Amino acid sequence: MTPPAVGTWDPGQYHKFSDHRRRPAVELLARVPPAEDPGLVVDLGCGSGEITRLLAARWPGAAVQGVDNSPDMLERARAGAAAGGGGPGIEWVEDDIATWTPSRPPGLVYANASLQWVDGHEALFPRLFRALAPGGVLAVQMPRSREARSHLLMHEVLAAAGPGGAPIGPASLRREVSRRWVLGPAEYFDLLGSEAARIDVWTTEYLQVLAGEDPVLEWVRGTGLRPILNGLAEPDLARFLDAYRPALRDAYPRRADGTTLYPFPRLFIVAVRRT
Ligand SMILES: C[S@@+](CC[C@H](N)C(=O)[O-])C[C@H]1O[C@@H](n2cnc3c(N)ncnc32)[C@H](O)[C@@H]1O
Repeated sequence: MTPPAVGTWDPGQYHKFSDHRRRPAVELLARVPPAEDPGLVVDLGCGSGEITRLLAARWPGAAVQGVDNSPDMLERARAGAAAGGGGPGIEWVEDDIATWTPSRPPGLVYANASLQWVDGHEALFPRLFRALAPGGVLAVQMPRSREARSHLLMHEVLAAAGPGGAPIGPASLRREVSRRWVLGPAEYFDLLGSEAARIDVWTTEYLQVLAGEDPVLEWVRGTGLRPILNGLAEPDLARFLDAYRPALRDAYPRRADGTTLYPFPRLFIVAVRRT
């Protein structure tokens, strides 16, 4: 299975909804048990580094690394730290989570909204967990957006909005878009629970109140729509967007006050390794 194209993250688009995107990251961090000295803290899929700097502020004595495979995101992370955004001692590392191994066992591996882009969670999660130092913590948040209407519509439109009701784009793209890499809560419990001193798994649905023109389209442009934006050439991309935009407006109608409600489910995992 070809992984989604990750080389073309657009930090500007991703940050259009930074309040909504930041909240689960902060709520995940709040559930990480206090550790006086976690030694090494790794932010996996750190993006442009805002949350990495929160980790560095919470554990000022720790060595903190932000790992990401997008040069654009890492460039923004470096620039943010250099511009006085805090965390001058953070080490930014370009690497792929699928093959990443830590330089030494971390006391915390934190991954907010990144592991949903990586295939093979049945192997990935135990591998990350076993890489921790004794007593270390794996803290993960992932959107369950592929169950959301906005994401199901991507698949429906790709399957039937071509000329004469034909599919748009290659079959591999349609397979990728319909694939759900995030497992159910109980599956993560089963993957990690037997090796954990403590494990906490929970789901939340945020009722996001969005403003502006086609806000759900703008939201998914920053994340879930990227494989399609990167994977379709013109005129297929224009054809896709011409069908997808009105379908989103029907699914998420604009309210009389101009806002649009976009329910968004997320899954959280905090697992502590035995000492
Ligand atoms: C939605 S952003 C989240 C960024 C950050 N964790 C935050 O909460 O603001 C997802 C990030 O994961 C990164 N990413 C996706 N797949 C990856 C992979 N296989 N290896 C490393 N980073 C990856 C992307 O480049 C992107 O920066």
